[in-house]
Amino acid sequence: MEILDGKKISNQIKEEITVEVAQMKERGEKVPHLAAVLVGNDGASLTYVGSKVRSCKKIGFESTLIHLPEETTEEDLLKQVNQLNNDPAIDGYIIQLPLPKHIDEEKVLMAVDPNKDVDGFHPTNFGKMALDMETFISATPFGIMELLKRYKVDTEGKHTVVIGRSHIVGRPISILMSQKGNPGNSTVTLAHSRTKNLKELTLQADIVISALGVPKFLKADMVKQGVTIIDVGITRVPDDTKEKGYYITGDVDYEEVSKKASHITPVPGGVGPMTIAMLLKNTLLARERHS
Ligand code: GUN
Repeated sequence: MEILDGKKISNQIKEEITVEVAQMKERGEKVPHLAAVLVGNDGASLTYVGSKVRSCKKIGFESTLIHLPEETTEEDLLKQVNQLNNDPAIDGYIIQLPLPKHIDEEKVLMAVDPNKDVDGFHPTNFGKMALDMETFISATPFGIMELLKRYKVDTEGKHTVVIGRSHIVGRPISILMSQKGNPGNSTVTLAHSRTKNLKELTLQADIVISALGVPKFLKADMVKQGVTIIDVGITRVPDDTKEKGYYITGDVDYEEVSKKASHITPVPGGVGPMTIAMLLKNTLLARERHS
């Protein structure tokens, strides 16, 4: 069994980007600048955004955190988006999700300039991704593909079962895994909350990608021997015995499933760190495309 070590691979990617940024600086070029917009004080979002901004600093990017109060109106947020679209200093930016309920998420994401949409959430970029065109691929599916590539996991002709049809992970990874290429060329089943006989499907899977958000949902009796497991779930489970008051777990019962797997991503330290590395990669691409 081989652990797909997202922490290690993401550090490699960040080192590669650091070298490129240093070269840009040496040539007297502008370095990539990422902005992140956070509305409200959701604990997990604060942690993620903080981590994204810290990573920028470490690798030599410029970064700007725009932290707006929970009561920010949709109109004010749209004004902020417009400002970022028109600010030549900003190469790419993200609107951290989820947004407060009174704001129409779709409307805000549609307002982001596709050329600065390093999250790859705009329909233009999602469409380009589905058509195999050069674009910004969303960080989480991009990270999964990179992890499979760097560990040389064979995906060709394999049956991949994706659990979850979210716009951010399940839907795009189902498209990418079926694309021509390596990784890719996989036969994909996209399972979701209305799927019947999920266990019948996962038992046939050579690769299971779970993006469900239900702690320890996938058990050993649901997968076959030699399966590759990609666990995208990151759930905070309340636990008073922990200093933070919670522990982090994935969708997969790692303890038992890892005994049957050929490859598996741990949580934490699997897909999560890859997501940040790929966001940085997209920001570097944005800078290169703007110059
Ligand atoms: N919320 C959860 N995942 C993501 C992500 O990849 N990008 C943004 N902007 N928000 C998120």
